[in-house]
Amino acid sequence: MNECEYNTQQSSIQLSPFFHQVGGHSSMFQYDKDTVCKVLELPELDFYQSMPDSLKNFTPEFRGIISVQYCEDEFGFVKLIARPQTTCTDDDQISNEENISTTTDPQSIDTNNPKKSVQLRCSKDGHIDYSNSIGNDIVNYEQGKTIISKINPWSLQLCKKKAEKLHQELMDAGYVTVAQKYMLLEDVTARFRHPCILDLKMGKRQYADIDSDKKRQSKIQKCASSTSSTLGVRLCGMQVYQIDSGRFMFTDKYRGRILTVEGFRSELAEFFNNGRIKRLDIVPEIIERLKSLYETINSLPKYRFYSGSLLIVYDGLPQSNRIDIRMIDFAHSICASTTDESTASNNHLGPDRGYLFGLERLIDAFKEIFNDGTKSTINIDT
Ligand SMILES: Nc1ncnc2c1ncn2[C@@H]1O[C@H](COP(=O)(O)OP(=O)(O)O)[C@@H](O)[C@H]1O
Ligand SMILES: [Mg+2]
Repeated sequence: MNECEYNTQQSSIQLSPFFHQVGGHSSMFQYDKDTVCKVLELPELDFYQSMPDSLKNFTPEFRGIISVQYCEDEFGFVKLIARPQTTCTDDDQISNEENISTTTDPQSIDTNNPKKSVQLRCSKDGHIDYSNSIGNDIVNYEQGKTIISKINPWSLQLCKKKAEKLHQELMDAGYVTVAQKYMLLEDVTARFRHPCILDLKMGKRQYADIDSDKKRQSKIQKCASSTSSTLGVRLCGMQVYQIDSGRFMFTDKYRGRILTVEGFRSELAEFFNNGRIKRLDIVPEIIERLKSLYETINSLPKYRFYSGSLLIVYDGLPQSNRIDIRMIDFAHSICASTTDESTASNNHLGPDRGYLFGLERLIDAFKEIFNDGTKSTINIDT
């Protein structure tokens, strides 16, 4: 399938919040049942469009580009309407007079289903809030603290911030709608009933050659004071399904940044804890897949995945042993052949050793968790 033609039969789609976003700085949205969208950044788009085939097993499928219009209806409800691009490189202007179709009734708030109740609304004085207390209570959670909730607070918080930003742009521009381009990506969580998700930022170095001095210093500092420097990996977000309450336990990147090596290992062990048992049954498969990723990255000289993450997903449904592991976030990834030769010769020979170091430590940590938990009845070689 030509990726630009994905779902083009549909003339417009109303996006909904993506409830399984555990990290990141900008809100992702749900496009259809197994596709999410992420704000388009050219370096990331380039990477998706030119990545080596060997990485495709370990990355979400790239499904094209859409233009997303932000608007507010007569009741103040915020709408994000996606229209597919006709070609990948089309830079078409969005008409301000387009007729915006709405697919949900803004008045119908279902209190039994909180997901349906988290619509954003702009008040007359310009404040954006969730349309009932469920969303607002969770969005005001204390960062860095673990929280147990039916809805992911990180997703809600980012969604609200995004709406506030777009509302401001709308006011500044004086239009009826404002538009922005997004990439469509396979939703890695779609095949899971209750996705338990771990976002791990990989590597010892996070800054890219093109980063400003200020950004470089800030990233160097975050690495130096976290497990990025010691283990080549740090926790950037996590949700774990709790079987008895039917809620998720969430941990955010702020907590991930202050974890010690020991703290990181125990948080990793919590990833398998559903409140009743530790799901150690899936650990060997995770280790096998990480080893296979190691081989793949090891065979890719000149690639660097600065600031990239690994997403590890399994199903909170106890009878499922399905897992998935994907690399995400390529906004700062490079292949040295596409950069300046002098930079390439200095820094970018051979495979991404920082990433490989992080993978080795991660594999060790998972083996330890498995061996400790099974108390030597079954052992994975260390
Ligand atoms: N393809 C995907 N499928 C499912 N979830 C995703 C996907 N890509 C990103 N996410 C979710 O969104 C979060 C942020 O993604 P990321 O690409 O790292 O964004 P950012 O560039 O803002 O850091 C991740 O922590 C993950 O929870
Ligand atoms: Mg990220």
